[in-house]
Amino acid sequence: MQAVEIRKDIYWVGAIDWSMRSFHGYQTGRGSTYNAYLILDDKITLIDTVKDVFAEELLERVSSVIDPARIDYIISSHVEPDHSGSIPFMAQHCPNAKIITSLPNGLKGLKAHYGELPYEGVKAGDTLDIGHRKLKFVTTPMLHWPDSMVTYCPDEKILFSNDAFGEHYATSARFDDENDLPTIFWEAKKYYANILMLYGRQAQAALKALDGLEIDMIATGHGIIWRSHVKEILEHYQEWSEGKLEDRAVVVFDSMWHSTETMARTITEAFQSRGIQASFYDIKENHLSDIMTDVLSSRYLAVGSPTINNQMMPTIAAFLCYLKGLAPKDHKAFAFGSYGWGGQSIALVEDELKAAGCEIILDKVRIANVPSSEQLQDLTEQIKNL
Ligand code: FEO
Repeated sequence: MQAVEIRKDIYWVGAIDWSMRSFHGYQTGRGSTYNAYLILDDKITLIDTVKDVFAEELLERVSSVIDPARIDYIISSHVEPDHSGSIPFMAQHCPNAKIITSLPNGLKGLKAHYGELPYEGVKAGDTLDIGHRKLKFVTTPMLHWPDSMVTYCPDEKILFSNDAFGEHYATSARFDDENDLPTIFWEAKKYYANILMLYGRQAQAALKALDGLEIDMIATGHGIIWRSHVKEILEHYQEWSEGKLEDRAVVVFDSMWHSTETMARTITEAFQSRGIQASFYDIKENHLSDIMTDVLSSRYLAVGSPTINNQMMPTIAAFLCYLKGLAPKDHKAFAFGSYGWGGQSIALVEDELKAAGCEIILDKVRIANVPSSEQLQDLTEQIKNL
């Protein structure tokens, strides 16, 4: 396992998790990487570690450059174990290293996870002089944990951004311009939608804190390193965090005997006939994390469920629970569904959409049993008249 030099005397020494397919429920179809960086200067500095099962891989990559015992500092940008999990292991191999973490939450979190180690706390704006370079700490609380921080090196114009601007994407090519660009932007959007959407206000604050810094490279905690498309990923974060919406619709449904599915098809077609692109998601065939990626920037959301045991389908309940947690902004939504008798599911879906912060633009669309062509025509008209 070799380190990859990304700038003179600065190395990527992380790990590639080719096989991971779930990151606490977020479906990671393309795996991920846990990025760590080694800076050789008067003081040798390791920025972040990797998930504990990859500790040996990290050590091997570091050892391909220097003796790990020479490391002076290990910076912990974020306590979540995909980045901090190998700190105890590295502390054993780097007996002289101080572990730099944010105050007060990084220190509190690391102690809670790993007990006493040689920690040193830093605050927003503190600078670490490592010789020819300085490292400046910018705290980014709740982006997405209380302890989160990023490290800026003004001498190299590199931002070591940890979770921000990253994506779950396993690749052997370290830079943005060596990978398929639409794929990495889509994965970055998926990462934002599923990990950071709830924290748009904090993302805006972080972007403000970074405003004015000259950034040539963003060395992320996951996926690729941005060097050719820095401006674009910063712009995307601006749009996503301010909740900029496109005239697009997401139609999500479950169905028992195809009647709610027929309504979903009609709604999708009706949006399209209005010139609004619409995506059709049978919840049985699509993962929540993919649907949420589309929800992030789509203005309209239609959610359908038939009634089962006086409730909505559990699949739709899970989707709405996830939606409510991520708290999308300013979406226009409505509930729909077919039913045999009680038909309670449609009102329940509408209640959950309201609880998620959506504006209801069409009162509960309910059709008993199998939709007739007249009822579907009427549904089409209702969408057209929205
Ligand atoms: Fe990649 Fe929040 O850890």
